[in-house]
Amino acid sequence: MTAPKALVAGNWKMNGLKASASELSKLNTLIQEKGAKCDVLICPPYTLINTFVSLNAKNVSIGAQDCHMNMSGAHTGDISAEMICDLGCEYIIVGHSERRADHGESNEIVKAKAVAAQSVGATAIICVGETIEQREAGQALQVVTTQVKASIPDSAKVENTIIAYEPVWAIGTGHTPTTGDVEEVHQAVRDVLQSRFGDAGRNIRILYGGSVKASNALELMSVKNVNGALVGGASLKADDFYGIISAYDKIG
Ligand code: 13P
Repeated sequence: MTAPKALVAGNWKMNGLKASASELSKLNTLIQEKGAKCDVLICPPYTLINTFVSLNAKNVSIGAQDCHMNMSGAHTGDISAEMICDLGCEYIIVGHSERRADHGESNEIVKAKAVAAQSVGATAIICVGETIEQREAGQALQVVTTQVKASIPDSAKVENTIIAYEPVWAIGTGHTPTTGDVEEVHQAVRDVLQSRFGDAGRNIRILYGGSVKASNALELMSVKNVNGALVGGASLKADDFYGIISAYDKIG
């Protein structure tokens, strides 16, 4: 069985101003000239989505970092999946650990956001991951599989759902799990997906995120059931991000 085509996605978080459009142009040119064996996505802050989509960078999809669970209404400051889709985005990250922590988003809320994203034709990138305390208590597998089960809607299909495993303690710290630990968690996520969604569960992409950079990308992306990366800091500069993308030149 062939693995699903990998996705290397950049989550810019709360970074980037208008001038950052030059990084997207540079990335697009790098891919144009040197190629990419994986799909490539950038999720800038909302304020840059329109600018980035308008650049028409053919080699890079544009997505959002979150959406509201409702399509419209009295929700001051929030952005709906329909609004995001209206700008031309194909992907929406939901349930990032920073949103779960900073905004108290439960699995139920994350699931509702995933449904909202899917209902407008976008692919929901559903994030899960354990804290350091949970890992040290031997609870990583249980925490992650519980999050996956409770955050994924029944409507999940290969075309509209991606899972991102991001251990909270690996985000922005320079620390990464061992490849053995990554394999163990990704296998557990795969098992949950397969038992719930059958064939589709075999092909839903599972990304790894947390301190991915060019120097560790090949090792991490080569792990079984790792179908790409969700990258924070190292996605902000085109050269750094392309270094991760090009790891796929060496992965069969
Ligand atoms: P870093 O790559 O900066 O560790 O961030 C990972 C992340 O949170 C991506 O969503």
